[in-house]
Amino acid sequence: MTHRGSAAGGAEETTEGRINDPWFSVAFLAAAFSARVSLMTEKHQRIALVTGSNRGIGRSEALALAQSGADIIVTYRTGEREAASVVDAISALGRRAVALHLDLSDPGSFDAFVTRMRSELTGTWGRDTIDIVVNNAGAAVWSPLGSIDAQAVRDALDVHVVGVVMLTQALAPHIAESGRIINTSSGLARFVGENGYSVYAAAKGAIEVWTRYLAQELAPRRITVNAIAPGATGTDFGGGMLRDDENVRSMLAGAIAMGHVGLPDDIGAAVAAVASENMGWVTGQRIEASGGMRL
Ligand SMILES: NC(=O)c1ccc[n+]([C@@H]2O[C@H](COP(=O)([O-])OP(=O)(O)OC[C@H]3O[C@@H](n4cnc5c(N)ncnc54)[C@H](OP(=O)(O)O)[C@@H]3O)[C@@H](O)[C@H]2O)c1
Repeated sequence: MTHRGSAAGGAEETTEGRINDPWFSVAFLAAAFSARVSLMTEKHQRIALVTGSNRGIGRSEALALAQSGADIIVTYRTGEREAASVVDAISALGRRAVALHLDLSDPGSFDAFVTRMRSELTGTWGRDTIDIVVNNAGAAVWSPLGSIDAQAVRDALDVHVVGVVMLTQALAPHIAESGRIINTSSGLARFVGENGYSVYAAAKGAIEVWTRYLAQELAPRRITVNAIAPGATGTDFGGGMLRDDENVRSMLAGAIAMGHVGLPDDIGAAVAAVASENMGWVTGQRIEASGGMRL
C-alpha cells in the first residue's frame, strides 16, 4: 500500500519503508505512549445526581460525594430552602452544585426534569452527561395487616418502584460511560423488622431485583448498578423516631453488631465508596450499610 508523502518531501514513500526507518519507529512509539498516558490521566469532572438530597441520608450522600471530588445535582420535593443550604455547603467544599425540583410520584414530569437537568449541565459544566445517579428519595410507609388499603400500596410503589424505574430510564441515555447507579433498598428487605413494614420492605425488595437486571443491561456501557441497603439510621424517616426516641434507639442498638443506630453520614460514606472509580468491577450487588444489623 502506497501513501502520498508530505508536500515538503515531494517524493513518494512506502509504509513499509517508513516502518523500517528506526526514527519513525521511535517517534511512533513515543506518540502512542503519550496518547495512552493522556488517556489514562485525562479525567473529566465527575457529576452526581442525588435524589432527595435536601435532608437526611441524601444530604449526607451529596456531601460525601462532594468531599470525594464530585460536583452535585441536588434534588428536593418540598425542601427548597434546605436544598439551597446543601448547595452552599457543597460550594464551601470547593465543588459546584445546583438544586432542582423533583417529585418521584409524578413520572409525567420526568422528561421536563431531564430537560432542565441537561440545560443546567450545559450551562454550568459545559457537558450533557452525568456520571453518578443515587436514587435515594423515599419515605417510610407503615401499614400493618388489617389497615393496608390499596391506595397506600400504590403510593408506596409509586415512589419506591415506579418513580425510581421511570426516572432511571429517563436518565440512562445521559449517564456517561463507566458511570454509577446506586439504588436505595433497606435492611428490611433482608430481615423482618417490626410489624407494619411489609409493603415498604416489599417495594425495597423489588428494587433489589431490578438492580440486578439493570446491571446486566448497562454493563456494555461499563455502568455499574448496585443497591445500598441502609439499616436503622437516625433521620426524619418514620417521624424521626430512629434519631429522637431513646427507647427505640437502645432497643435497636441491641440488634446491631456495632452497638448503635447509624448516622446519615455512615450511609453517605458508604455511597461515596461504591460510587468511586475503583469500584468498576462491582455490579448487580446489594451492599448493606447497617453496622451489622440482625446478622
Ligand atoms: N432512615 C432509615 O432508617 C432508612 C433505612 C433504610 C432505608 N432508608 C431509605 O433511605 C432513603 C432516604 O431516607 P431518609 O432516612 O433520609 O429519609 P428523610 O430524612 O425523611 O428524607 C427523605 C428525602 O426524600 C425526599 N422525598 C420523599 N418523598 C419524595 C418524593 N415523592 N419525591 C421526591 N423526593 C421525595 C424528601 O424530600 P423533601 O424533604 O423535599 O420532601 C427528602 O429529601 C429512603 O429511600 C428510605 O426509604 C432509610
